[in-house]
Amino acid sequence: MSKQHRSVDQYPYPVSRIGIIGGGQLGRMLVKSAKRLGCTCVVLDPTPGSPAGQVSGHQILADSHDPDALQLLAAQVDVITFDIEDIDAEMLATIAAAGHQILPSPSLLSEIQDKLRQKQRLTRLGIPTAEFVEVDPADTEQFARFGYPLVQKARRGGYDGRGVVVMHSAADAKQRLPVPSLIERFIPAAKELAVIVVRAQDAEVRSYEPVEMCFRAGENILDMLLAPARIPVETAAAARRLAIETVTGLDGVGIFGIELFLTEEGELLVNEVAPRTHNSGHYTIEACITDQFEQHLRAITGLPLGATDQLIPAAMINLLGAPGESGPPVIRGLRAALAIPGVSVHFYGKADTRPFRKMGHVTVLDADIEAARRKAEQVRALIEIGSKTESSA
Ligand SMILES: Nc1ncnc2c1ncn2[C@@H]1O[C@H](COP(=O)(O)OP(=O)(O)OP(=O)(O)O)[C@@H](O)[C@H]1O
Ligand SMILES: [Mg+2]
Repeated sequence: MSKQHRSVDQYPYPVSRIGIIGGGQLGRMLVKSAKRLGCTCVVLDPTPGSPAGQVSGHQILADSHDPDALQLLAAQVDVITFDIEDIDAEMLATIAAAGHQILPSPSLLSEIQDKLRQKQRLTRLGIPTAEFVEVDPADTEQFARFGYPLVQKARRGGYDGRGVVVMHSAADAKQRLPVPSLIERFIPAAKELAVIVVRAQDAEVRSYEPVEMCFRAGENILDMLLAPARIPVETAAAARRLAIETVTGLDGVGIFGIELFLTEEGELLVNEVAPRTHNSGHYTIEACITDQFEQHLRAITGLPLGATDQLIPAAMINLLGAPGESGPPVIRGLRAALAIPGVSVHFYGKADTRPFRKMGHVTVLDADIEAARRKAEQVRALIEIGSKTESSA
């Protein structure tokens, strides 16, 4: 009998053995939650001492596309999940067919990891998204016919905005990505929102308050996150309904990050679905009753879902590697940042920094969201992750 369907409320230790494909920061935070919940983790990642591997203590050193390593992982755990999307979903499907539990399911992963198939599925579900077409990147005529401004998106492998090109006019077409892609309408969004949704194996579903993702003009990387989003209550409720409808329509199990555009007319469109814990949900560690990582574990191990209520407003910034500096990290400004009340710092334990690499994040709690935002701005000015040591004065 699987642990998920026991009728007696009794678990051996560990409560569940979790396999995590990908040993990055999301995996690291998942492992920390797992340990608290009485679970153990095995991480599959090719980098020795990966951020998640350091914390779990058990790492299989191999690529996520290595079939033998995946088999080895499957043999050691009760349930497999992932902290990255660029995995061979077919290989995972074979492992699942042999009786190993993988959540979210390999078939859903395969659909979501291809942005074209993802949008086609959302459209079939009646979920509003930006109008799109599949495109042959060599055919600029097709771009022109669709009309500018538009956004080209690589079907596979993009993250942190790397597979995304915004084109305002035909002159921008020379920047197009030479890979299988879709193009979609450029949406002049008043705000970008995200809703974290968790759905259990028995289909119970819960959402968190929408958060507001602020981007710097012209850059696709998250600049600051504000939780909750500064939007009318009806809009927040509609965003939560839409996000829940999306995950339910996809029949997803586990945690999902639903990215949304709120247009200037007040319309909500789903931008994309992440089948995993999400950067926009890191604030839940400090600010919510149950954080997104524990919530994911509860869902995939068949434990009851936790409360999603937010206890206090939060602002979050990512700590990116300083431009022009690579190598073993040096953290400047830590003491000054930690002297500000409400500041929590998370470092991901990456051995080397590189320009704009995600090295950590900071969450700032304050009863007043504007104060939290101001403090987060202060922290951003104070903390710098580079590799050069400054000689002390
Ligand atoms: N149709 C659109 N209209 C306007 N802006 C867009 C559109 N699509 C994407 N963008 C901008 O580009 C950003 C990145 O796009 P998207 O989320 O699809 O890519 P991604 O590579 O998966 O990014 P991430 O990993 O950061 O979520 C969005 O957050 C948004 O700011
Ligand atoms: Mg995105």
